[in-house]
Amino acid sequence: MAMKLRDALAGREVWPPPLWLMRQAGRYLPEYRAVRAKAGDFLSLCLNPELAAEVTLQPIRKFGFDAAILFSDILILPLALGQGLRFAEGEGPRLPPLEDARLLRPGAAPDAYAPVIETVRRVRAALPAEVALIGFAGGPATVACYMLDGQGGGFPRTRRLAYEQPGFVREVVEILTEASLDYLSAQIAAGADCVMLFESWAGIFPPAQFREFVIAPTRRLRAGLAARHPGVRVIGFPRLAGLMLAEFARETGVDAIGLDSVTDLPLARAACPPGTVFQGNLDPLALRLGGAALEEAAARLLAQARGHAHILNLGHGITPDVPEAHVARLVELVRQAR
Ligand code: CP3
Repeated sequence: MAMKLRDALAGREVWPPPLWLMRQAGRYLPEYRAVRAKAGDFLSLCLNPELAAEVTLQPIRKFGFDAAILFSDILILPLALGQGLRFAEGEGPRLPPLEDARLLRPGAAPDAYAPVIETVRRVRAALPAEVALIGFAGGPATVACYMLDGQGGGFPRTRRLAYEQPGFVREVVEILTEASLDYLSAQIAAGADCVMLFESWAGIFPPAQFREFVIAPTRRLRAGLAARHPGVRVIGFPRLAGLMLAEFARETGVDAIGLDSVTDLPLARAACPPGTVFQGNLDPLALRLGGAALEEAAARLLAQARGHAHILNLGHGITPDVPEAHVARLVELVRQAR
């Protein structure tokens, strides 16, 4: 059977379009909450191949999505590089803000993230052949933001360092780019069918810094992955890139663009190189609200996607308060699209 996600990534219109949701394995699912309770905490779940594989598969079984995404987190890489990391309940990630790039230990990372690679192997072995497995890493700029500030929330230290100590930021981004290349390469070797780069905070950088810290590293990653794995497909997600989106699409060589919910899909398509494949961009709030909000947002998006290679998804992750019935309704709306 054909793999719909792979066909769309190759630039072919697939109709109805392939569908998956960012954060599809997560707290909105009771079976996820049960496994997470068994694991103890979120990081233990990420580093337990048996349980991480189980939660990766849960949304596939329940909703029949066209792709599974490896269950892990973008901050596993800083952890593997030797930086401290904890998830304070209800507060999000906390890291000791990095003071010196020489404190990082790139050589130790592959052993530290080995459990994640084992999760990839287990998921690929358990998935139906027509369901794609997406591997991922954080975009180097986004991961550097968390490493330098130690937490989310505007990243004021990173913003300032990018002006006052650009060499330090550059060094961290370069270490992350090379480590991500090895990390994603290991995921592909273990069975990931394609990979996605979550550059969720790309939009905080002014254009010159966006070029240096977002576009250039993504281009290097794309080229490095293509050299090691000919034919591999890469999805970029430069969230809130605004008018820099076209340059990102043109210069990085990514095979598809994950689009946030605030960007108009037809306008993005008109600005990017002809044939650019998009993934997105339903507003997560429309999914949470359901009813007319969901029906109208889904109908509009399907109409905009018709006639193009498109991967249907949200513009950002699904929130824990989404009723499962709304997800089921979205699946139905997409499957019935004509
Ligand atoms: O999409 C998926 O289902 C794959 C798994 C995945 C997670 N995080 C699981 C997760 C992926 C791809 C990520 C990416 C990620 N992680 C990003 C980039 C995408 C984005 O959402 O902007 C970022 C910035 C992170 C860092 C991170 N991890 C934050 C800020 C938080 C706390 C916020 C929250 O929702 O609690 C996490 C925790 C996290 N990562 C959870 C999950 C399922 C929730 C953990 C739990 O309590 O069970």
